[in-house]
Amino acid sequence: MADAATVLDVKTSIDDVGTGIRKEKRKEIASRLSEVLTGSYILVLKSHLYHWNEVGPLFHPLHKMTEDHYEKIFEACDEIAERIRALGYPASLSAKLFSDGTRGLTPDGATSQHMIEALVADHEALCRSMRKVAAMAEEAEDFVTHDLMTGRLAYHEKVVWMLRATLAD
Ligand SMILES: [Fe+2]
Repeated sequence: MADAATVLDVKTSIDDVGTGIRKEKRKEIASRLSEVLTGSYILVLKSHLYHWNEVGPLFHPLHKMTEDHYEKIFEACDEIAERIRALGYPASLSAKLFSDGTRGLTPDGATSQHMIEALVADHEALCRSMRKVAAMAEEAEDFVTHDLMTGRLAYHEKVVWMLRATLAD
């Protein structure tokens, strides 16, 4: 029995994605999005670990804040991965970035201040990656990826503000 692609005569190769973004650009953007996906997953893991291991007077606000973060960023991972698929490429993580980013992840003995500073650094690094992808996507007329990155940037920049405000004397 013929499958749907045959009946509709839709070609399923990545070479034939005919949405108006050149193949080289789709490949480049998908690759950079995989890095953003990896950084986002590392933040899900880190936020969850800190949610569990936080101790001290900031326990309650940080416990709640990190819960909100890992839930929202986890949802965003799905959006980012599905965007990579829509560009015609497999949704994958960067093994090297994941390995580097998860080294020393267990926060044994870490203070609240250390945890917040580590989160700020990771959110800021992710913002810098997303900004580059947004600019690259706009130049390639990939407005969907550009919009996705703009939305994610707005979220992470707000998180950076709130985490920094938590650290202020
Ligand atoms: Fe929990």
